[in-house]
Amino acid sequence: MKNISIAIDGPAAAGKSTVAKIIAEKLSYIYIDTGAMYRALTYKAKLQQIDPENELDLIGLLKNTTIELLPGDEGQLIYLDGQNVTTEIRTSEVTNSVSTVSKHKLVREEMVERQQRFGKKGGVVMDGRDIGTHVLPEAEVKVFLLASVEERAARRHAENIKKGFPSELEQLMAEIANRDKLDSEREVAPLKKAADAMEIDTTSLSIDQVVEKIMEIAIERI
Ligand code: C5P
Repeated sequence: MKNISIAIDGPAAAGKSTVAKIIAEKLSYIYIDTGAMYRALTYKAKLQQIDPENELDLIGLLKNTTIELLPGDEGQLIYLDGQNVTTEIRTSEVTNSVSTVSKHKLVREEMVERQQRFGKKGGVVMDGRDIGTHVLPEAEVKVFLLASVEERAARRHAENIKKGFPSELEQLMAEIANRDKLDSEREVAPLKKAADAMEIDTTSLSIDQVVEKIMEIAIERI
């Protein structure tokens, strides 16, 4: 048995983190939500009124920022400079500027370095946009999850309602489509399926079915 790396990429709200968490648990691997790292930086930049277009200010800020991903009872907890910001990084204010913050080369270089350090020993399930292409190009398992914008917005809407968050389906659909566009069209490490990734369209699949497909390949390669 070896400790492999599993890279899960895909557009916004495709179910990456849900699936990644279950797989990590099944294999007793660590789970790294790289989107949460970009969100944490975006949240701190907002607090300090740093312009999301200002690459030099953002990299200066990031160099003086610690971001930790720690296991909690109900999933992963995100700590920013020692403070729990798990809920704060999910607001629509953060969501709507995270793609601008994460388009910058210097920011990505620093984040990728940190993510590679987390994944160094293997035994990791990492989700994001550039994991199979840049962060873990040697990952034994690479998956690209897809679903229609309508389906992704409907899932996020149901999740929001369940959590008691305000939610508007049409608006969610527009925000998701806009984030996909920014993430796919940026110059540095855009959202893209790695040539050797397995593509799974989850539009008409249950979470269990997606997990099963990925586990089948993972077990072959362990
Ligand atoms: O995964 P999540 O939707 O939380 O990611 C938030 C944002 O962080 C993405 O829309 C993208 O702009 C950025 N991101 C990225 N590279 C990653 C993970 C996330 O650019 N590996």
